[in-house]
Amino acid sequence: MRILFLGDMVGRTGREAVIKSLPDLSQKLKLDFIIVNGENAAAGFGITRKILHQVLEGGADVITSGNHAFDQRETLGWADEEERFLRPANFPTGTPGRGSNIYEARNGALILVSNIMGRVFMKPELDDPFSAAESEFSVCSLGLNVDAIVVDFHAEATSESQCFGHFLDGRVSLVVGTHTHIPTSDYQILSGGTAYISDVGMCGDYDSSLGMDKEEPLNRFLTKISKNRVEPAKGTATVCGVMVITDDKTGLALSISPLRAGGKLTPVWPS
Ligand code: FE2
Repeated sequence: MRILFLGDMVGRTGREAVIKSLPDLSQKLKLDFIIVNGENAAAGFGITRKILHQVLEGGADVITSGNHAFDQRETLGWADEEERFLRPANFPTGTPGRGSNIYEARNGALILVSNIMGRVFMKPELDDPFSAAESEFSVCSLGLNVDAIVVDFHAEATSESQCFGHFLDGRVSLVVGTHTHIPTSDYQILSGGTAYISDVGMCGDYDSSLGMDKEEPLNRFLTKISKNRVEPAKGTATVCGVMVITDDKTGLALSISPLRAGGKLTPVWPS
């Protein structure tokens, strides 16, 4: 199966770049399934139902999130109804929405997508991500009742992400880090066959501070006093992601390659 995962869309420029590029990416990369992290899509904070539908209609199959999942208060009202929206699975029991779900890909295969949040340097501090993963995957087994498993691990500390990847190595197809908005170059297939990257980067303007206009964050570092609201940068976005090809029999990864297109970053096309 050919799976594309795109990192956190930041603001209008991020989501418009994703929506614009998805048809071309889908065709050229012969994609079976597309996942996009959307927790910063609405002016940098959360996602609205309207934006969710725009990105799904643009070609994405699932939108994941993270610590900003419920920044738009309206999300609490519709998260239960939107099966293609995921919030971290390790939110407390009773939180609206779902953390994992199984979907049918374009090739007819079944893919389990899960969104789990780290706890190191993260707010809110959720339940233990490792035990959350154990319970999420206790009823679904790679190659048995699903053909692929992708985990969006939304975390700040690369040490936690790496350990989480090793914890799931051999049991899932891909562990992909999100949240820091900076792409790492440690994409690899772990020893047990799971594709891994500590952070896939964002889909946003890299002439910025993590996708936000750089003036106010810089002001806060310099003066320790808030002067203005933090708002998304408006320059051309770089679309950042990884493409993973999985083995149809085992569900484990055959390859993982980075994608970077548009904007300030040097372009990289999946090999
Ligand atoms: Fe985040």
